[in-house]
Order: sequence, then C-alpha cells, then structure tokens
Amino acid sequence: MNFIPVMELSDLRINSHVLVTVGNRPVLLSNYENKISAIGNICLHKAGPLDKGLVNKREGGYFVQCPWHGWEYNVHNGKAPESFGDQQAVYEVRVEGEKILISEKPVIPASAAKHKDNPLEDLSSLKYETGPGTLNVLGISTTNMHPGITRISTSEEALYLALNNCKEQHGAATKLIRLRDLEFRACEGYYSIHERACTWPCSISEMDPKDGMNEVYRSLVLWADIIFVATPIRWGNPSSLYFKMCERLNCVQNQITLHDRILIKNKVAAFLITGGQDNIQQVAGQMSCFFTDLGFALPPFNFVGWSRGWNAEDMDQNVEEFKKSKYIRRSVNELVTNSVSMSRHMKLVDYEKMDSPLPKRKDIRD
Ligand code: FES
Repeated sequence: MNFIPVMELSDLRINSHVLVTVGNRPVLLSNYENKISAIGNICLHKAGPLDKGLVNKREGGYFVQCPWHGWEYNVHNGKAPESFGDQQAVYEVRVEGEKILISEKPVIPASAAKHKDNPLEDLSSLKYETGPGTLNVLGISTTNMHPGITRISTSEEALYLALNNCKEQHGAATKLIRLRDLEFRACEGYYSIHERACTWPCSISEMDPKDGMNEVYRSLVLWADIIFVATPIRWGNPSSLYFKMCERLNCVQNQITLHDRILIKNKVAAFLITGGQDNIQQVAGQMSCFFTDLGFALPPFNFVGWSRGWNAEDMDQNVEEFKKSKYIRRSVNELVTNSVSMSRHMKLVDYEKMDSPLPKRKDIRD
C-alpha cells in the first residue's frame, strides 16, 4: 500500500485535530494522548464534516462529535460509541523523520450500522394515506392554555365548528391536534450550520421518535387532504406555539430548496384567526405565505377572522359575543364548503408534475 505525506510532524499540535486530504479523500488527522491517528472525515449520518467538531475525552477514549447532529466516533479506532455500531474509515499512519504519512486507502473501511426497525420509516418513505376518494380533514389548534384550567378559546371553538361541519355536512374523516398537548422540542437551527444539516425526517425526530412534532408530520404530510389552522392573535401575530410548529416545518420546506422534492401536494390549507383586538389581515398574510411555501393551495377567501376592534378591552364579553355570532357560524360553514370543493377539484388534476418557483440550491450553481 502506498503512503502519502500529508504534513510536518511539528505542525500537528498535541491534543488537536486537522483536516488533510489523501488523494481526494478528506481525512481527520488527530494527535490525542500522544497518539497520531487518522479516520474518515465524513460523518456516516448525513455527511457532516468531523474536523469542525469538538473532541471530548470520556470513558472509552477520545470521541470527535459531528457538529451537525452530534454523532460521535473514537478518533483512534473510528468506532461509534458501543450501542450504535457504526464504523468510520480508519487509515494507517506512519511517521518518517519529520513527515506524517497516511495510507492511500483505509485499512478499515467505513460501514454504517444497519439500524433495524426505523420508527420513522413511514415518514422517510412518504407513505401517504390520501387518495382520490379520501376527505381527511386535520384541525390544528395553536392556542396556549393551561391544561388544568377549563376555559373556552374562541379560535378553538371556531375550529370545532369547522371540523363538525366537515364531518356532518361532507362526511369527512376528521382529526384534531392541540399543539399544547404535545411535547416537542424547538427547531435548533441545524439549517444555519449547513443547508444539508436540515433533514427529512427532522433530525430531532430521529433523535427522539417520541417527539410530539412527529404526530404533526404524520397527520399534516401523510394523512390530511385539508388542514384548518386556528390561532389567537397575540401582539398582532399568530401564537408562539404556531411559530414553534412552523420552525419545525422548516424540514418540509427545505426539501424543495435542497432536493427539488415537494412533500405537500394536492392539499388545501385554511385558517381561523380570532383576537380580542385586531390585526387579522397581517396574521392571515403570514399564515397564507407560510403554508403556500410548503405546497398547500388556498381556497378562495381562505380565512375566517373574529375581532371586536382596537378598543374592545371588555374581554370578558368576547367569548359570549363570539358564541352568539351568526357571522361566525355562517363564515366557518362557507370556509369549509370552499375548502372541500377546492380539495375535490384538486384531486381531478395531476399534481405529481407540480413545480415550485422557490429558490433552489441548483440555482446557485447555474
Ligand atoms: S451527525 Fe453528522 S451529519 Fe448528522
């Protein structure tokens, strides 16, 4: 086997690691515990660069941690921590005089462990539950309320009206998700490390298959034909839980940007927006823009709004006024009718060929 000189011995500091290339292979050369070693630099998960990661010493040796999602490899033997079983490529290192040389090819090849029973298999392989004859309607309530205190939320009441109407008037299958009942982590901004660090399924879901957003992904991407998203107005915007969900949906949108892959096709989104004071148009604008960016189509007149205006400080009257309102009942029914008819029309069109005019990674290369 040929050995390739990669650097001067005096340039490799004790307790440090650097990126070198052998032929065209990136290799992590390190010097921990006075032992020079070399392993492959490309993470076996999603190809993150190990040289940008930190090395931690703990029982079992020195482990480099991938900066993208935290996978680890022993810098001396390339092995992932015991329970994982992945093996990073290992190169032989020689020191001749002042030069460090590395074997032209790995002496142990890289091998990713076969992780059986992937709990996210339905999401990875996009096992859609929709078809030409389905009418699956998902309601997502984004209001924050203490689960132990029973009280009425106007946005959630409007959502119940919409779902009941879908079931009774249109024979739809319905499902309700209250975001406040799900425990889910906030998006941790992997995209801002590197665009390919934002993955589908979300890397947080991979780390924790019990993360509450998995129910949203399954229902919204795989199951629903129509979604109704209900939000209160909070300081002129949708609720904080709504934004927490949207940030975790970045992984759906990024599939378009990175891979030209549209996960949401043939689906309709409409909104129920209520607030003691106003800003309905701003909230509807935000929601419309976000959900069309994911691939949803909006029906004509795609939201119902309820607000009693800037000086309506008598909030104790709000729920009572809302419950008495004929306008709410009529407009929710009309929103449902428009959404159902839009969904039925869309099923007659071949959206498999749908394209997105969003910026894509390949534009940068053109
Ligand atoms: S942990 Fe390395 S790419 Fe995901």
